[in-house]
Formats: sequence, structure tokens, C-alpha cells
Amino acid sequence: MRKIEISTSAIIYKDISELLEEDNMLMNKAIEAREKAYAPYSKFNVGAALLLDNGEVILGNNQESAAYPSGMCAERVAIWKAASTYPNMKIKKLAISASSSISKVDKPVGPCGACRQTLSEYEINQKESFPLIFMGEEGEVVKTESLLSLLPFSFDSSYL
Ligand code: THU
Repeated sequence: MRKIEISTSAIIYKDISELLEEDNMLMNKAIEAREKAYAPYSKFNVGAALLLDNGEVILGNNQESAAYPSGMCAERVAIWKAASTYPNMKIKKLAISASSSISKVDKPVGPCGACRQTLSEYEINQKESFPLIFMGEEGEVVKTESLLSLLPFSFDSSYL
């Protein structure tokens, strides 16, 4: 038997004004995307902005459905939009922001488990980690250096 320790680290910024210029720009794009989310059922709007290696920023937001499970998260809308438009294009960074019309989202909102799994596929394939920056509507912003750091013991193609 052996015991292992798994640790991860993140930088917590007081608010968006403390971010580096490029991170701030990308977060503002995520906010822009968030405002166009289609979330009439949860009233929880999420925006995602992916900075690609070619300099392009790809936006996504959550798209809900009256048949609830048929909806989709902002992060997966964004990653699939990017991957289907530019296959194999490296992702440099991902910014996420969330707000709600029924409560104040003042805590950073990280990607859900299914989005982490989906995003990990692309981080593994590109052999280069990409930082994730996430926040709610206002307040603290979290920055992690990689997606996989948020997904220990993740499933990948090596098991297949
Ligand atoms: N949502 C996202 O877009 N991303 C996440 O990582 C978590 C949840 C969306 C899905 C749904 O439309 C709403 O937020 C409430 O769960």
C-alpha cells in the first residue's frame, strides 16, 4: 500500500482589475459572451472565451433547452466551436464568467466536471497546458495553470 498526495495551486485575484492585460481582455470577452447566453430556465448565464494560437478569440455561452438535459454548457459550446472551425489549433487560454438574474454570483465559477473532462482531451492532444481564468459576475478571479490540474485521475485515451 502507498499513499500519495495530490496538490494543485491557483492564484486568486481580488477582482478583474488585478489581471494581466491579456487575461483581462479575455475575461471581458467571456463577460460579453455571458450576456448573450440562452438560459431562460436556470437564469444562470455563463460565458467562455478561448484564446487560440492564431490570436483569434472564440466565444461560447450556455444554451438551454425546454428538454433540460439537451442543453449545453458555455465551455463545451466554445471548445467545440473552436475545434470544429480550427482542428488541431492550440488553445492558449480559457476565461469563464457566470452571472444570474436571480442572485448575485460573487464567487468564482469553475467549469463543471463534464466540461473539465471535455477540455482535458484538447489539453492532452496539444501537449501544452493552458491556463484557466474564472470568476462569477464580480469579485475574486481564480487562475490555474492547467486544466488537468483540476482533474486528478482523469480518464483519457490511454485506457482504451
Ligand atoms: N453551466 C455552464 O455553462 N458551465 C458550467 O461549467 C456549469 C453550468 C450552465 C449549464 C446550465 O445552462 C446552467 O449553467 C445552470 O447549470
